[in-house]
This record gives sequence, C-alpha cells and structure tokens, in this order.
Amino acid sequence: MKIAIGCDHSALALKETIKNYLESRMIPFEDFGVFTSESSDYPRIAELVSKAILSGQFDRGILICGTGIGMSIAANKIPGIRAAAVSDPYSAILARRHNNANVLCFGARVVAGGLATLITEGWLNASFEGGRHAHRVDLIARIEQQYMIPTPNGQQEQTKEPTQPVELPAEDPDLP
Ligand code: RB5
Repeated sequence: MKIAIGCDHSALALKETIKNYLESRMIPFEDFGVFTSESSDYPRIAELVSKAILSGQFDRGILICGTGIGMSIAANKIPGIRAAAVSDPYSAILARRHNNANVLCFGARVVAGGLATLITEGWLNASFEGGRHAHRVDLIARIEQQYMIPTPNGQQEQTKEPTQPVELPAEDPDLP
C-alpha cells in the first residue's frame, strides 16, 4: 500500500508525526506538501493528493489541515474520492469498513499526535466490508456521475443540476 500525504501550513508538525508512524510501519508514502509554515491554500494540496490516488500510483491519501474539514470538502469534489474527516479511531475504522474511504482527513488543531496516530492506524488496518455497504458506495458514485457533464476536452465538470433525475434504487431492507 502506498500513501499520498499532504497538509496545509497549520499541520506541518502533525504531518511529520504521521510520516514517522508510516516509516515505523514501513508503509511507503510521498509527501505532496506543503513544506513551509507560510500561509497556504488547502484545496491545492487536496487536489494534488486526490489526483495522485486517481492516477493509480497511490492507494490512499492522508490530508491534514486545521480541522480536516476544508481538506475533506475539497477532496470530495473530485469524482472517485471518498474523503472522511474524523477525530476518533472508531469513525476512522468505520470510514473504511462502511464507506471505503480512500482519503483520511483530520485536523491538527483538533487532534494531537497520539490520537492522530491511532486514527491513522485504525484506518490503515481496516478493510471495506462490501455487501450492503458496496451498494451504498455505488449509490454515491451514481449521484456523482449524474451531476457531471462532459466537456469538449473529454474531461468532466460539475453542474448545478443533474443531467438526469437522480433515481436511487430501493433501500436494502436487510440491515442497518
Ligand atoms: C487555515 O487557517 C484553516 O482554515 C485550514 O487549515 C482548515 O482548517 C480549513 O478547513
């Protein structure tokens, strides 16, 4: 598993803590910045890390800003990215098991190094359970697709209105 990691100026120290943890577990990673404490724009780093995952060169991403929220909002704008902003290990584990989150976000102003390491560990060790959760993650992808329109250069951009009505299949009655 190869990790793309990034942060904004508010999270340099915590990013180093997480990099040290990844090194201790011999998990390969690449740091996509930022590298100085100069004020920076978290959406730029969220986009770099997200694109690295979509390129197939990285399996998952970790994004850290002040709260984790801005990074997650920005990353979730990119089709195929499922970013979870969490502050506790339980949510981090469930973000993998139920939501198949491929990006983990947390806030350097919210969680300290020890907790952030436990959050990262839980998320890395957990696996997607599939089944009814796969159905729900597929529904997310379906919504994503229905709000995209093709552009002349072959890429897609988001539109305010869905190109077709969003029709969601009936809910799986089985389980919570
Ligand atoms: C930077 O001050 C802060 O807004 C950013 O790190 C992040 O918390 C945004 O969501």
